Amino acid sequence: MSDSFLFPDGFLWGAATSAYQIEGSPLADGAGASIWHRFSHTPGLTENGDTGDTACDHYRRFQSDVQLMANLGLNAYRFSIAWGRILPDGRGCVNAKGLDFYSRLVDELLTRGIVPNVTLYHWDLPAALDNRGGWLNRDIAEWFTDYANVMFSALGDRVQMWTTINEPWVVSDGGYLYGKLAPGHRNLFEAPIASHNLLRAHGQAVEAFRASSASGKGRIGIVVNLAPMYPGSDSTDDMMATVRADAYMNRQYLDPLFFGRYPEEMGEIFGEAWPDWPSDDMKMIAQPIDFLGINYYTREVIRYDADRKPVRAGAIRQEGSIHTETHWEVYPPGLTRILLWVRDRYGDLPLYITENGAAFYDPPVAIDGSVDDLLRVDYLREHLRAVREAIRQGVKVGGYFVWSLLDNFEWSHGYSRRFGIVHVNYETQERTIKSSGRYYAEVLRTNGAALEK
Ligand code: FCB
Repeated sequence: MSDSFLFPDGFLWGAATSAYQIEGSPLADGAGASIWHRFSHTPGLTENGDTGDTACDHYRRFQSDVQLMANLGLNAYRFSIAWGRILPDGRGCVNAKGLDFYSRLVDELLTRGIVPNVTLYHWDLPAALDNRGGWLNRDIAEWFTDYANVMFSALGDRVQMWTTINEPWVVSDGGYLYGKLAPGHRNLFEAPIASHNLLRAHGQAVEAFRASSASGKGRIGIVVNLAPMYPGSDSTDDMMATVRADAYMNRQYLDPLFFGRYPEEMGEIFGEAWPDWPSDDMKMIAQPIDFLGINYYTREVIRYDADRKPVRAGAIRQEGSIHTETHWEVYPPGLTRILLWVRDRYGDLPLYITENGAAFYDPPVAIDGSVDDLLRVDYLREHLRAVREAIRQGVKVGGYFVWSLLDNFEWSHGYSRRFGIVHVNYETQERTIKSSGRYYAEVLRTNGAALEK
C-alpha cells in the first residue's frame, strides 16, 4: 500500500478530557466533593496549590466548547462523568441537576454530529466513599455498578460508547502506592487491593450493562495506559526487570481482563502483599468487552534497580530523544508496537487510542492570535503515522482521541503543564486554537492525507 493509505471509514477523530480537569464548579448544583477536591485543597499536594475549582469553567461553557469541537471538525469526544455530581454521597440519592448537565452535554454533541464516548470513572471518587475505604473496600464494586446503572438508564438511549474505568494502573500506582495522586496513600499492601477492586468494579458494571437497555444502542470497554518496555541491555538483570515492569504496568490489567488470571510475576513483585484472589472474582473481571481503549504517551527503557521497590526496575533516560515537559520520551514507534502486541496477545477486538498527546512549553499567544506549538504538531503527526502503520498491518483501530482538547488541570502538576490543542487563558477563559489544533483539523478533514505534509 502506498503512503496515501487513508484511515478506515467511520474512524473516530476525537479529543479527550476528564471532568475534574476541565469542569470547574466542583460543588455546584448539589454535587458532592471528590477525592480530587479534597486532595487539591490540602496544602502542599499540588503545584502552586492549584485546584480544579475553576479549571476551564467547562461546566458553564460547555455549549461553546462543543461549538469549538465542531469548528475543529471532530466527530467524537471523550469525556468523563463526575460521580459526585450524580450521587453526591457516592451512593443513595440521585442528584437530578448533575444528571441534567451530562444529558444536555450529550444532546449538544449529538446535535453537532459528535459521538460521545463516556468514561464513568476518571479518578474523581466521591469523598464520601473514600471515607468508607474507597477502592480498598470490596463493596465499591457494588457502589460503582449502582452508579453505572443510573448512567445507563439516563444516557443509554443516546450514548454509543461507554468506558468503565480510566487507567486502573495510575489509580493504584499514583493513588495507593506512591501517593502522588488522590487519595495520596503510600502502602504496598493497598496497591494490589485497589487494582483488584477497580477490575471487579469494571467487570460488574459490564455485566450490568449487558442486562440494561443501554446495551441495545452502545458498546462498553475499559481504558488502560500502556507503555512498551525495552531492556536497557541484554544482561539477565535488565531483561528480568523489563519483564517485571511489563507485568506491573501492562499485563497486571490486561491478563485478568482477557485471560481471567494475573501474570505470574505479580507474586514476585509484591511478595507477601500479593493476596490469593477468589476465582469468582476473576470470572467477574473477565467479562467480554466490546473494545479496548489505550492511552499511549511513551515507552520505557528499563534497567534493574534494587532500590526502586517493589518492581526493582528503573527507567533509563534516553539522552538523544526529545522529552516532553512531563519528562516523557517522545517515541512514536512504541505506539505501533503496543497496538500490534495487544492484537497478537489478546485478540482481534476493536482498539481505540483514547489518549495520546504531549505537554510542551508553548509560546505565548501572539498578537495575531496564533500559538505556534510546533513540537506538538510534530508529536501528533508522528503518532498518527504510527497508528496508521498499525492499521496497515491489520490492527483494528477504530479511532484516535488526542489528549487534550483544552489545556487543563494536570492533577498534581496543577496548571503548569499544558496538553491542549486549544490554549486556555486561565484568567479570561479565552480559548485559542493552537497550530496543533489547526493541523489536527486538517488531518481529520482529509482523513489522514495531510499526514504526508
Ligand atoms: C493520563 C490521564 C489524563 C492526563 C494525561 C496527561 O494518565 O488519564 O487525565 O492527565 O495522563
